Parts: sequence; structure tokens; C-alpha cells
Amino acid sequence: MDINFSNIKDSRVQIRLRKLQLSDAKSIYQNVKDKAIVRYTLQIPHPYYLSDARKFINYSIKAYREKTAYIFGIEHIDKKTIIGIVSVAKVDRKNKNCELGYWLGKKYWHQGIASNAVGMILDFAFNKLKMHRVYASAFASNTGSVRVLEKNGFLLEGVLFENYWRNRKWHNLFLYGILKDNYCK
Ligand SMILES: CC(C)(COP(=O)(O)OP(=O)(O)OC[C@H]1O[C@@H](n2cnc3c(N)ncnc32)[C@H](O)[C@@H]1OP(=O)(O)O)[C@@H](O)C(=O)NCCC(=O)NCCS
Repeated sequence: MDINFSNIKDSRVQIRLRKLQLSDAKSIYQNVKDKAIVRYTLQIPHPYYLSDARKFINYSIKAYREKTAYIFGIEHIDKKTIIGIVSVAKVDRKNKNCELGYWLGKKYWHQGIASNAVGMILDFAFNKLKMHRVYASAFASNTGSVRVLEKNGFLLEGVLFENYWRNRKWHNLFLYGILKDNYCK
């Protein structure tokens, strides 16, 4: 299933969320090879190769089929290319919770796109998957990501102090969550 956006507030770029296909490998690779994307992410390798993008797409197709993770491409409607990813993974059916993740190609930052994409996948998680809780983590220094979560109603639940050693210093990790009852849509 695809999620369509027709009216995106505060954004000049019209986007929709859709499942990935192998022909998206090049767009994904072109965005993710930029070190700015992986600086604050935990799962994406660097350097990043076209073969990594293909592996990721194959994984997303398999996970979707197995209902363990729902990974959507953020498609630029006019250009028909994938400019980012938003996903819910670690889908726990018994406890009705899952983990949110996202990134966006650098040239599309600061246009409200990630905030809107997260809003749409929350709608999907709570109303289609019937989740009770969605959680996410962000480096404390990742101001943009923290803002995306807080704008979407996530609450800070805890801090893992000095949990990661990167670029010759320790980083705190913020843990965020949102409950269905606190999600107003
Ligand atoms: C984090 C990221 C997804 C934000 O995407 P984005 O589309 O630029 O975010 P938005 O435009 O929706 O911005 C949301 C808010 O954060 C603010 N913001 C975004 N980037 C920021 C930055 N680097 N520093 C400070 N504020 C920032 C925006 O001004 C906006 O605030 P406002 O609504 O009060 O004006 C994007 O920078 C990214 O992909 N980064 C690399 C990957 C990553 O960090 N993923 C998250 C891992 S937890």
C-alpha cells in the first residue's frame, strides 16, 4: 500500500510514501553516499555502495511481505525519484510497538519534508497497523531529528549517556516515544 500526500503544509516539494523497488537503488545510493546522511544514523554503512542500496531494497521487500518492517521511500512526486526513507521496524505484534527511522537527501532538508513524512507513517502505524506505541532514538546533538520527533508529539523518555563514541567524542542518545492516546489525528 502507498501513502499519498496531496497537501503538504510548509513544503514546496510534493511527496508521497511508497514501497521501494529495485529501480530506486540509484536514487537511494546518490542520497546516502553523502556523509551528512550517515553522521547521526546507526544502521547505514559508510562508505555506501550501489550494492548496499540494492541489498536494502531487497530487505525492505522481504520485511514488508513478512510484516516485520514497513520501509517506505519518500518520493518526489514531480521528479518521480526517492529522496528519503521513513520506516517502522521491529514490529512487535504482541506488545503493539515498533521503531521509527528516517533520513532525507541533504538538498531537501529544512522544508518540512521529514516532519510531514513522519506524520504520515505515524498515521499508518497507529491506524493501519494498530500499534499502541511508536519509539525512536536520536543523537542528542541531532537537533533536526529531535525537532522532527517533538513536532510530531514524541516525548523524551530517557537518555543513554555517552552511549556512542564517534568522531573522537562521546555522544548521548535520546530515547523518544509516542502512545496512540497522545497521537491526535
Ligand atoms: C533529521 C532530518 C531527517 C530532518 O529533515 P528535514 O526535512 O530537514 O526536517 P524538517 O524540515 O521537517 O525540520 C523540522 C524542524 O527541525 C528543524 N531543523 C531541521 N534540521 C535542523 C538542523 N540541522 N539544525 C537545527 N534545526 C533543524 C527545522 O527548522 C524544523 O523546525 P521548525 O519547524 O521549528 O522550523 C534530516 O536532517 C536528515 O535526514 N538527517 C540525516 C539523517 C538523520 O539524522 N536521520 C535521523 C536519525 S535519528
